[in-house]
Amino acid sequence: MKRKAMISLISGMMVLLTVSGCNPRFQEENSKTEKRMSDSANQEITLFDLTKGKNGRAPLITLNSGDEMPVLGLGTYSLKNEVCVNSVEAAIQSGFRKIDTAFIYDNEASVGEGIRKSGVPREEIFVTTKLYMNQYENAEAAINEALECMELDYIDLMLLHHPGSHDIEAYKVMEKAVEEGKLHTIGLSNYYIEEMEEFLPQISIKPALVQNEIHPYYQENEVIEYLHKEGIVVEAWYPLGGRGHTRELIQDDVISAIAEKHKKSSVQVILRWHLQKNVVAIPGSSNPDHIKENIAIFDFELSEDEMKQINALDRNEKHDWY
Ligand SMILES: NC(=O)c1ccc[n+]([C@@H]2O[C@H](COP(=O)([O-])OP(=O)(O)OC[C@H]3O[C@@H](n4cnc5c(N)ncnc54)[C@H](OP(=O)(O)O)[C@@H]3O)[C@@H](O)[C@H]2O)c1
Repeated sequence: MKRKAMISLISGMMVLLTVSGCNPRFQEENSKTEKRMSDSANQEITLFDLTKGKNGRAPLITLNSGDEMPVLGLGTYSLKNEVCVNSVEAAIQSGFRKIDTAFIYDNEASVGEGIRKSGVPREEIFVTTKLYMNQYENAEAAINEALECMELDYIDLMLLHHPGSHDIEAYKVMEKAVEEGKLHTIGLSNYYIEEMEEFLPQISIKPALVQNEIHPYYQENEVIEYLHKEGIVVEAWYPLGGRGHTRELIQDDVISAIAEKHKKSSVQVILRWHLQKNVVAIPGSSNPDHIKENIAIFDFELSEDEMKQINALDRNEKHDWY
């Protein structure tokens, strides 16, 4: 079965099982990203300037909408209610300014609450959410619902969560919502080369960002290269391998040895590896100490040789089905 058909089938089943009613910019001293380079197709690939980051504040990248986005954010998959509110608040207090949620996580309202509780002005937080496939046929209502659930006037970045029936139709509604100011930037998730080739000719606003599974054991280098050549920012979900798989990555001999050399943790080395590959990372955590640790990765740099050692760990080992 083709990936698109398979995703539609499984996700339809997931919606039936999990969705319950209303799921539930920022000024920075950092200037716009300077380093740009052109590829052979004359597309611009924006490189992260990690020298602009400091522990407790990630550097920014400029998206095709003109908006700036931190290159490190908090993921909120599986965080619910108070746990989610507290994690979002702890992340913002630790210096995170980017939060990733989705309709299907059933925590948009808690993300909104955590942002308000943090006391940091909403304009300083970059919020990403995603439309799920069961919402594609009525995307306008779904966008309004996300705004209402989070109690926000606009969403910084909205993604289509998966390829599926009516995804083009939903994306065109998101394009209209950009014109209306409800959404600032739009993008995709779980789209790979074949899906992108089919998708891109049918839409007007190029997706600013694609969010896919990426970690040292599943590196997706061809997809990253393809997206960067298209001038699209790549963001990693499961940057630490995902819940149930993190221990293996944390205990990996190569990663552990590099971590020991830099007097950092394995998680910090993995997150730094993502950023040095120009891949945005959104590690999930409900532990305030972990959250603080995850944004303290701007005081060291992996050498070319260390990057190569981690690149060599790729074993095409996907940790989820999409
Ligand atoms: N677009 C998609 O289809 C898709 C799919 C999956 C996920 N996502 C997004 O990507 C985000 C990241 O994925 P994820 O949260 O599932 O997995 P992940 O970030 O790879 O791993 C999360 C796990 O790592 C642990 N962890 C985090 N920081 C740690 C540290 N410093 N030391 C030790 N353990 C640490 C967390 O435990 P503690 O809570 O104990 O810290 C949690 O168990 C999600 O939250 C979600 O926003 C998107």
